[in-house]
Amino acid sequence: MSIYALEPPVEEGARQFYFMEKCKELVRARSEKLGRPLYAMIQTFGCQMNERDSEKISGIMRQIGLLKAAGEEHADILVYNTCTVRENADRRLYGRLGVCKAYKQANKDMIIGLCGCMMQEEHVVERIKSSYPYVDIIFGTHNIFRFAELLYRRLDSGSQVIDIWKDTDRIVEELPSERKYAFKTGINIMFGCDNFCTYCIVPYVRGRERSREPRDILREIERVASDGVVEIMLLGQNVNSYGKGLDTKITFSELLAETAKIDGIRRIRFMTSHPKDLSPELIKVIAGNEKIARHIHLPLQSGSDRILKAMNRHYTKEQYTDLARLIRSEIPDVSITTDIIVGFPGESENDVDDTIDVIEKVRFDGAFTFEYSPRSGTPAAKMEQLDREFVQRNFDRVLGTVQRISKEQAGRFEGRIMEVLTEGEDEKDPSRYTGRISQNNVVHFPKSGAGIGSFVNVSLDECMGFYYNGTVIGEAP
Ligand code: 5AD
Ligand code: SF4
Repeated sequence: MSIYALEPPVEEGARQFYFMEKCKELVRARSEKLGRPLYAMIQTFGCQMNERDSEKISGIMRQIGLLKAAGEEHADILVYNTCTVRENADRRLYGRLGVCKAYKQANKDMIIGLCGCMMQEEHVVERIKSSYPYVDIIFGTHNIFRFAELLYRRLDSGSQVIDIWKDTDRIVEELPSERKYAFKTGINIMFGCDNFCTYCIVPYVRGRERSREPRDILREIERVASDGVVEIMLLGQNVNSYGKGLDTKITFSELLAETAKIDGIRRIRFMTSHPKDLSPELIKVIAGNEKIARHIHLPLQSGSDRILKAMNRHYTKEQYTDLARLIRSEIPDVSITTDIIVGFPGESENDVDDTIDVIEKVRFDGAFTFEYSPRSGTPAAKMEQLDREFVQRNFDRVLGTVQRISKEQAGRFEGRIMEVLTEGEDEKDPSRYTGRISQNNVVHFPKSGAGIGSFVNVSLDECMGFYYNGTVIGEAP
């Protein structure tokens, strides 16, 4: 079918390319009228999943002829990809929307779009409709691939466009995407989550768990590899349950082993693992394959059996520490990082002591510590909440332990020569590069011949607490 046909095609991919062409015409006409290119920008809040979604929206922006704006105030189209995992993420967005009003006063044709997790919540969309009527396009997590169609509707109708899907079983392949980095990217292997941890809003805003077909994933990785990508991160809310519901029988370990065979890919990361599903088979695959990063992010959330049960996590303190011990014994030099929540309803000082005990036993190489934040619609939000000061005191205790131990852990590679992927210029010193070792620790080193995106062997001379200062020995083989 011609892209200029009157009716848009039915097949979703073709339909979106049809709307991209339509938008391109409008963008071209508008930029001729203005005598300058049109600029766009996407700002991303939240996790790697959102980062990856934003790369897809950027790809569509570029496809329809929008150039990259140097700052929000220069954008003709500004999109915020939102996060709602904790309340402060919500607050940040409302703050930004206040600033957007001023942008719009300066450029009345500016288009503001909102998408992502926050938009999947009814109360958010209601608030935006009533308090921020100058927002032009609102869409959610399930239909980001429709960005061109929604933008076209907005440009064509001149009125606010809202399109939120409750859920989807659809995975649209083969749409454009623009990578933030030339040498690394995230690859979605699955969408959604079925775990319903009682504090977490993700299953409500990202929908039911669905895995992508392995051949689509592997084809995408081959394509990015031929394009110069050397490091990939396989993304899913719970990668260890990858493969459920697919016609092709496959586990996450098998997918990982297949991925490691792809030429050009030199380092593979993945995120996130749920302790209840991490198999001994996966540990073997990692141990046996140097391309797979020596880093496992394994969210603990709590070290107390009582709280873990109330969180619906399906493991005990002992199961977690046994698993961590197995990982450390099977994969030498592995780094284990985690997420911890302090202040879940009903959490006592003793429960926090259990969490601290796990931190000391596992010796986490890094941990994100969060104060529990009630999310409306989740079971835990309906439970009796704790006193904030009490939570703050416990939080400080946990944070102190985490910091002490991760600092001790960080020093363990001092003096060693390790392979570093050069990721960019050191922000504080332009005569130096910054990069990461397989374990994910950051290393700063004086610039050498090999540039950004290349692997170099670096001597980790001095541990500075949370990063190393090093010297380049030479190219990595
Ligand atoms: N409050 C605090 N932290 C939360 N997380 C998820 N939901 C909440 C919440 N309601 C944390 C968990 C998760 C990480 C991505 O965010 O630790 O692993
Ligand atoms: Fe949220 Fe639990 Fe799913 Fe992670 S596994 S996204 S914490 S519900």
